[in-house]
Amino acid sequence: MDHEQAEGLGFDTLAVRAGQRRTPEGEHGEPIFTTSSFVFESAAQAAARFAGSDEGNVYSRFTNPTVRAFQERLAALEGGESCVATASGMSAVLATCLALLKSGDHIVASHSLFGTTLSLFSNYLTRFGITVTFVPLSELAGWEAAVRPETRMLFLETPSNPLTELVDLVELAGVARRAGAMLVVDNCFCTPALQRPLALGADLVVHSATKFLDGQGRCIGGAVVGDRQRVGQEVFGFLRTAGPTMSPFNAWVFLKGLETLSLRMRAQSDSALALARWLESLPQVRRVYHPGLPSHPQHLLASRQQKHYGAVLSFEVEGGRRAAWGLIDATRLISITANLGDVKTTITHPATTTHGRLSPAERERAGVGEGLLRLSVGLEAVADLQADLLRGL
Ligand SMILES: Cc1ncc(COP(=O)(O)O)c(C=O)c1O
Repeated sequence: MDHEQAEGLGFDTLAVRAGQRRTPEGEHGEPIFTTSSFVFESAAQAAARFAGSDEGNVYSRFTNPTVRAFQERLAALEGGESCVATASGMSAVLATCLALLKSGDHIVASHSLFGTTLSLFSNYLTRFGITVTFVPLSELAGWEAAVRPETRMLFLETPSNPLTELVDLVELAGVARRAGAMLVVDNCFCTPALQRPLALGADLVVHSATKFLDGQGRCIGGAVVGDRQRVGQEVFGFLRTAGPTMSPFNAWVFLKGLETLSLRMRAQSDSALALARWLESLPQVRRVYHPGLPSHPQHLLASRQQKHYGAVLSFEVEGGRRAAWGLIDATRLISITANLGDVKTTITHPATTTHGRLSPAERERAGVGEGLLRLSVGLEAVADLQADLLRGL
């Protein structure tokens, strides 16, 4: 199904159909094209492919039919014109920045970003003359005040990790437009099944496909989605030159992941909300962070901006690190791993893992206390998850 055919079809249809082009073999499932290069019919065709006047494949660092199928499917789901798949979520962020920014440019970014993105911005991009100002995610006035004439990019995740704070994307898109900067949203936590930033005014979406897009913890990958010029030309140009390309096998796994994305996101969000409500009722739990709870300060924004509230929640136990580690170590079912977005529920102590490299001051600013635990809720029975958590509560 090509892009034109995709228009007008529902999300769930696109998730299983978009991007597939059958070969003359008539296969029903999408094939994996495990080939590094492609054969030309003649020297003239080879020359035309290299010159770009003939659009066919050349080499799998540039294009590959299985990777293209994934790109077209994700572009259709996010509502973008183009998608470029990358080797990891971090290489999606890197490719976006290196393709679209130059020395002297300025980024305004949320404080509440994935720790490695914070590190990429602060420790590496700054070496190449790109400056960054970090602001609190949900305060629009802070974004507005941080903008400078040389600001080219606003970058954020919503909801944030691990405290599930949100920002109003329509409002922030207005700030970006007035500043002449592009708004880039890491849509890893919601995926297009729950939130479509491009429709709300964002310019680009980046993904760690490693998380919910795969959904079963199998492969590392990423993607950038947006308009034809910035993504299809400039990010693609960087990718084919620098080489952080997605492998065809991983693209095939992600294609299969997308087919069940909508069902998984709905079911896992339902379970997360049930667990959040239950945790909030327990005296041992100080506070629960989940956008689906009426106690969440941005519950109404989440109801408006997202189709569902998401599968990630955090909660704070009394007793600091000892109590938090004790709870983790008492579990027998839930996996102790820093990954998220899996159909298997995972538990993490952010202060000593995902946010462990931050200074105590940075951790405090991010609101990551020693008693905080993060759950990425999977597809197990909620009663079994409750029983597992109760072992250590
Ligand atoms: C929100 C977010 N963005 C980006 C990344 C980086 O993705 P990857 O691990 O696929 O490089 C992660 C990884 O945990 C993440 O949680």
